[in-house]
Amino acid sequence: MHIDRLERYWMIIVIIILASFFAALVAGAVVFGVRLPAPIEKINPRALLDSPEYGTPGKREVVAEDGSVTYEWIIHAQKWNFVTGSEERNADGKDILRVKQGDEVTFIVTSRDITHGFMIEHHNVNFEVVPGEIARITTTFNRPGEYAVLCHEYCGIQHQGMWALIVVEPASATSAQN
Ligand code: CUA
Repeated sequence: MHIDRLERYWMIIVIIILASFFAALVAGAVVFGVRLPAPIEKINPRALLDSPEYGTPGKREVVAEDGSVTYEWIIHAQKWNFVTGSEERNADGKDILRVKQGDEVTFIVTSRDITHGFMIEHHNVNFEVVPGEIARITTTFNRPGEYAVLCHEYCGIQHQGMWALIVVEPASATSAQN
């Protein structure tokens, strides 16, 4: 079969591009640990508040068998706030979530009403919050600072005001306080 020279070049270029996309995908998954957030469980959003497991937003400590401590943070998204169980608010009335540098936190997020978004600035956390689904994603806070949690899914008139703030306290400062 005769293949024109130019056509052959294009075929080679296309194969190289596809191969590099595939290599990037494999590198992302294997080397950089990129994981898609997966819905682990279904829940009836109307019965969410009665759920013994997920009904009460808040942070809890999880101690592994080897004594290492991580955290789980249950968060409800609803028009137009993230309900986090935190008692602390900033000047805009938004929840402040405090963690320490080095903390590994698994966010368990679901919606009480409609679809929202959940994204943490400068961290590998970014997903849709779909009513009826419990999403779970784990991240580690290595750099002290303040990071916004944003709803990036248009959810109505106050969408742009739907955010919260994560404050990562430096490890040394917190150990001095405690
Ligand atoms: Cu919630 Cu936009």
